[in-house]
Amino acid sequence: MCGIVGYIGEQDAKEILLKGLERLEYRGYDSAGIAVRNSAGITVFKEKGRIADLRAEVNGDVEAVTGIGHTRWATHGVPNHVNAHPHQSVTERFTIVHNGVIENYHHLQRDYLQGVSMKSDTDTEIVVQLIEKFSSEGLTTKEAFTKTLELLKGSYAIALMDAEEAQTIYVAKNKSPLLVGLGENFNVVASDAMAMLQVTDQFVELMDKEIVIVRKENVDIYTLGGDRIDRDPFTAQIDMSDIEKGTYPHYMLKEIDEQPAVVRKIIQAYQNEQDELAIEPEVLEALQQADRLYIVAAGTSYHAGLIGKEYLEKLAKIPVEVHIASEFGYNMPLLSERPLFIFISQSGETADSRQVLVKVKDLGHPALTITNVAGSTLSREADYTLLLHAGPEIAVASTKAYTAQLAVLSILSAVAAKAKGLDIGFDLEQELSIAANAIQAQVDDKENMENIAREYLETTRNCFFIGRNLDYYVGLEGALKLKEISYIQAEGFAGGELKHGTIALIEEGTPVIALATQEAVNLNIRGNVKEVVARGANPCIISMAGHAEDEDRLVLPAVHELLAPIVSVVPLQLISYYAALHRGCDVDKPRNLAKSVTVE
Ligand code: G6P
Repeated sequence: MCGIVGYIGEQDAKEILLKGLERLEYRGYDSAGIAVRNSAGITVFKEKGRIADLRAEVNGDVEAVTGIGHTRWATHGVPNHVNAHPHQSVTERFTIVHNGVIENYHHLQRDYLQGVSMKSDTDTEIVVQLIEKFSSEGLTTKEAFTKTLELLKGSYAIALMDAEEAQTIYVAKNKSPLLVGLGENFNVVASDAMAMLQVTDQFVELMDKEIVIVRKENVDIYTLGGDRIDRDPFTAQIDMSDIEKGTYPHYMLKEIDEQPAVVRKIIQAYQNEQDELAIEPEVLEALQQADRLYIVAAGTSYHAGLIGKEYLEKLAKIPVEVHIASEFGYNMPLLSERPLFIFISQSGETADSRQVLVKVKDLGHPALTITNVAGSTLSREADYTLLLHAGPEIAVASTKAYTAQLAVLSILSAVAAKAKGLDIGFDLEQELSIAANAIQAQVDDKENMENIAREYLETTRNCFFIGRNLDYYVGLEGALKLKEISYIQAEGFAGGELKHGTIALIEEGTPVIALATQEAVNLNIRGNVKEVVARGANPCIISMAGHAEDEDRLVLPAVHELLAPIVSVVPLQLISYYAALHRGCDVDKPRNLAKSVTVE
């Protein structure tokens, strides 16, 4: 949610900031801005819309070697020019960009800033006005910044420039991600290393409640109490080619296509020296100690969690509950005696999940994070981490991270079963390889997927996904994909539940995508299809070789039933992609959304 960048050095700051913001657009893209500093002072450019709109706004003649920038996903105040960051204090001495939410901004305004007229509706402006107020009372900028940070409740990643101090960018963070990147005669600031890979791969992680002074030659980290901290940099392990679109028209299509390779990479990454699937002993030990697992996640990761529950219960025989993160933290169920929490998160930064992690750590329970981003907040703060190895996922709609989550959850379940002496009855590694081939067959069949999108979704205003058992959960994910990128009202339902209400919505021609990959419920779901067809629905049955019928629109190659979701989700992703494309939607950056949601 919102991305920030900063640069201080000798090169053209504008271009480095704009390029950085382009890489952070996945974090929010409703407005953007940069502030650059030169001998004439600080100049702010901002614009409603995308970075491309901001680029058009920036005056190329302004030369500057220092600056900060921001791309926004609005929380406080509508996305417009005034509410776009950077924000400046009354005298324009201080300029800041901020990612996060200041929860007590109303109180701070009432207690400290009576009489100061605000230009924007944002919580951020309160921060910059407070800094100016404390500085006008005689504090140095570092002191005024520190005093302000001590008053803030909520989350923030902030970069601050002082018009009277050309050589410095001040930064601080709490709960929102922020890194400092190091270079020869320059240093940078970014919400994500990806934003600054163009200039460096050396980064220093910042911790909550630290204040950092970034200059061209050096970076000094302090606690808010003023103690100096030494921290070694790390090398960001991201390949530039992983974050480029290459010849693909959209990141989403590239990421869908990468799925067979991701599954194969996961198999390799989780093999031990004897080429057997393996998980770190500490993680297995934690699983064995637990009497119940609580999976907590949001969005697509929640949908992966629903399938993870099936894997863990069916293979490893451990009882599992799956919870939506934003609900769990504020309405915690009665916990078992020895719970283990499993957080599933592509980004590892989702605030809804993080607030649960903070609470369960306070209660003293162990936590495992399954994430795509090593070193992310959820990974750092949990006891154990399993990585997805999916490579950076840039399109807002999650695709390869979901299949990676399923693959890792299946491996965790199978290895945990083995550790308990249980025989799962099949060779998971072999079955995952078969599934990877079956995914390949789907991505190679794009023309067919495009035809399905055209046939069923070109003009419809709604679409239902039905399934039973694992197919029901995949249907939920299929519906989420379709609605988030094509804006078609799409819902997933348990096939047997339709007749208890939802069937009232079926009209002549309503598309119903029915998944039929699970043998035990094959006849039942086909019965449910008959029910909707009798009421005028236009059915699209996606089944699996072995129990397919003539009426089926798409027959997937046979894979192990438990792994069917890894394959059956792929046509749903592609159908959604083409539906969105045909409707002229912005596939990679759908309206109102952001990829990394760092506000609750
Ligand atoms: C956002 C994204 C979704 C994602 C969800 C959870 O809402 O738009 O695609 O599934 O966050 O994200 P996470 O990074 O925790 O998996």
